[in-house]
Amino acid sequence: MYFTEEWNVIKGGSKLQLLKQKVLDEGIVLSNQVLKVDSFLNHQMDPVLMKEVGREFTRRFAGEELNRVLTIESSGIAPGIMTALELEVPMIFARKQKSLTLRDDIFVEKVYSFTKQETNEITVAKKFIQPGDRVLIIDDFLANGEAAFGLARIVEQAGATVAGIGIVIEKAFQPGGRLLKEAGYRVESLVRVAALDDGKVTFADQD
Ligand code: G4P
Repeated sequence: MYFTEEWNVIKGGSKLQLLKQKVLDEGIVLSNQVLKVDSFLNHQMDPVLMKEVGREFTRRFAGEELNRVLTIESSGIAPGIMTALELEVPMIFARKQKSLTLRDDIFVEKVYSFTKQETNEITVAKKFIQPGDRVLIIDDFLANGEAAFGLARIVEQAGATVAGIGIVIEKAFQPGGRLLKEAGYRVESLVRVAALDDGKVTFADQD
């Protein structure tokens, strides 16, 4: 069933509950490390779900002063743009490149992907993040935190502030969430997966 229909039949129930249900119904456990969610987040995207994701991040970060959303291509763009739409601020997505000749009008950070076992350079044009900006980082997945730390380093290179980090699905058995919090960032994950053992998704207790 497409998310739109399910979403509308829940009355007074938690919409996040429905996001978890979507993970249970459509997520494919590829190994005890990797959850495939290409039917609503990583390939086909569910716009109604993304709209609610944007609303939920906006609700959670309502107390923060924010004037930019920063994400990373490609799967961060959908939750990022829907959050930026709700906040009515611009969204920037960092671009990934294998390697590039350094130029002085871009911020560059190296990000290693344990999942893909490759290093990408991520770049953002300097003109889009200014000193004093307060930036909300949004991403689809949090595993080891490499992407989120790379984005945070770009914000800090710019002399701007990371106002928070919003994640759609955190794999809580990997260290990214803990490391980001230890580094002082406020992290809000909509769904926290505790384990992917025996082909089954188990959520963390607080969910
Ligand atoms: P990290 O940034 O938290 O350290 O994660 P890692 O390097 O391990 O992840 C690299 C890529 O794999 C990222 O996407 C990340 O979102 C994705 N990823 C990590 N674990 C999972 C998982 O269990 N399931 C799915 N579906 N994705 C996962 P990316 O390479 O930037 O891909 P895309 O945004 O272009 O789609």
